[in-house]
Amino acid sequence: MAEHYFTRKPESTSRTAELAVELRGHRLRFLTDAGVFSRRDVDAGTRLLIDTMEPQSGQRILDLGCGYGPVGLAAAVLAGPDSSVLMVDVNERAVRLAEENAKRNGVHNVLAIVSDGFASVAGSFDWILTNPPIRVGKAVLYAWVEASPAYLRPGGTMLMVIRTKQGAKSMADQFARVFPETDTIAKREGYRVLLGRARASAGSESE
Ligand SMILES: C[S@@+](CC[C@H](N)C(=O)[O-])C[C@H]1O[C@@H](n2cnc3c(N)ncnc32)[C@H](O)[C@@H]1O
Repeated sequence: MAEHYFTRKPESTSRTAELAVELRGHRLRFLTDAGVFSRRDVDAGTRLLIDTMEPQSGQRILDLGCGYGPVGLAAAVLAGPDSSVLMVDVNERAVRLAEENAKRNGVHNVLAIVSDGFASVAGSFDWILTNPPIRVGKAVLYAWVEASPAYLRPGGTMLMVIRTKQGAKSMADQFARVFPETDTIAKREGYRVLLGRARASAGSESE
């Protein structure tokens, strides 16, 4: 049976490939491998998420389900060395590649760790960025959305890219149940980027 890309320990024979891509005007090189999502090119949904995010200097960013690292590394480059990016994935091969790709691109403000969803994530973030593993099913992904406010700083933002035909509408409803502010901020090539913003700090409403 074909191995899912979200297997914890891919057994598939390693078949590394190298990609050189331009993301938000930055040339980045990625080592990819069999058993890891979108090994032949940066996925169209991933690109839309990268084109939409606005990480800033000094911010903390979480890349949830990082794969070989395109979202987290692009965020680290865009936000600059005063930001910090945590990249997590359940797939150990993906995490090793994300680490290696940070080195290859001379990006030092990132850390890649194995984590099942938020299980090994500590602290809070200005951005949670995710191109989620749709095949794990709605229940798991809804739980990620529900858990996310606890990992966001006041006013922090979750961005999720999702195929319009793979449940974007019902996921938008889940965002609306969880976040005080939600929007669909981009649409391209059959993908949408959903935004959920955490409540700003107490007292900010009267400021
Ligand atoms: C659609 S891929 C996106 C990968 C990468 N962010 C990109 O855009 O190329 C989803 C990722 O989620 C990871 N994943 C699946 N289940 C997970 C879980 N329970 N916890 C963390 N990551 C998971 C997969 O291994 C995969 O790398």
